Amino acid sequence: MAEKPYDRLDGVIWYDGRLVPWGDATLHVLSHGLHYASAVFEGERAYGGEIFKCTEHSERLKRSAQVLDFDIPYSVAEIDAAKRLVLEKNGQKDAYVRPVAWRGSEMMGVSAQNNKIHLAIATWQWPSYFDPVQRLKGIRLDLADYRRPDPKTAPARAKAAGLYMICTISKHIAERKGYADAMMLDWQGRVAECTGANIFFINDGKIHTPIADCFLDGITRQTAIELAKKRGIEVIERRIMPDELTQFSECFITGSAAEVTAVSEILRVLHHRQRGRGHGGVRDRALEIHARRHHPATHGRLHRRGAAQGQEEGGLIRRRGSVDWDTRWRADAHDCGACAAIIASPMRTRRAPRPSAPTLCAVTRAPSSRRCSSSASVSGSLSPALRQSSTSRARCARLNSSMTRRAG
Ligand SMILES: Cc1ncc(COP(=O)(O)O)c(C=O)c1O
Repeated sequence: MAEKPYDRLDGVIWYDGRLVPWGDATLHVLSHGLHYASAVFEGERAYGGEIFKCTEHSERLKRSAQVLDFDIPYSVAEIDAAKRLVLEKNGQKDAYVRPVAWRGSEMMGVSAQNNKIHLAIATWQWPSYFDPVQRLKGIRLDLADYRRPDPKTAPARAKAAGLYMICTISKHIAERKGYADAMMLDWQGRVAECTGANIFFINDGKIHTPIADCFLDGITRQTAIELAKKRGIEVIERRIMPDELTQFSECFITGSAAEVTAVSEILRVLHHRQRGRGHGGVRDRALEIHARRHHPATHGRLHRRGAAQGQEEGGLIRRRGSVDWDTRWRADAHDCGACAAIIASPMRTRRAPRPSAPTLCAVTRAPSSRRCSSSASVSGSLSPALRQSSTSRARCARLNSSMTRRAG
């Protein structure tokens, strides 16, 4: 986190074709981009003076603008040159690079046919996107309530400012609860990505990652896939349902800001059951029993949430006749740790020891019921002993350094 607010940093910003002192790079309050989110941007990193995948980022910036129906009045080569110039003038070798393009103030309404298109490029020092201490341990993820929209609802593949509204809300909620970030599902309830990074899982030496058809196919994501394949590691891009998370032994996220960051834990993972087949497995029963016995307040809330969700989604699901992985049995770790423990995602290593009897609830430390102990290995995701292995963190560090070496 910068010590000064971002508008008070020192240096220069490239603004519509010329370098201006940092504090002079302002825009009018009646800018279309501010009111109607007609803005696109990039997030890039320079390592040792070279911008990682510089041209790919400039190309994406231009494409994102076209998706929003405007043309940035600079070529990719001009944008590349401008980014390098700002870095040089700011005397930075390792820095974050932020180009942003937006519609100006000529028209102020939904329609903005004649608005001038602006482009600015700033660079600043941003050593770590996540708290370095958390990052070393592997970050913890919450589960976002908002979902990545259907590509028919929003221009999901553009790096457009408007798409970050739900990301900021979700990240704030996660941070307030002590998590570093939130994992988001897509509009169909499948695992999608994080609020500013793509997500990967590992099982049996193979990498699994969601198909990027309704969220940003990150440049770091593409690089990680390419590097993995070159090393003979199988990468499977597929639909990943939240209930599969329990099967993975490792998880990491990728992004220009986030780089490659190991994930140690995903909490509040949905409890799923197939609609129409009655109650699901042990975890479903365990949650209900535990909630009923020990946490009447949470139990009530679970049911209220469940009813609302069921009503909201029921019609659609029946019409389509498809399988629904619903969210009715959510619990909030901060409301009821024991229930959350039951449904928490075990981002545990396969080598993690099973707790020996008598089992204590990982959260309440009270002796667990038989049902509870059957899920005790799951609740282990809350215990440091079961946090992700150092192997995974080392793997992320290696991947980061391979990418850094390939900067440019
Ligand atoms: C929502 C979202 N997904 C994924 C990514 C990763 O993209 P990239 O690797 O191109 O930075 C980012 C980062 O910009 C992002 O904001």
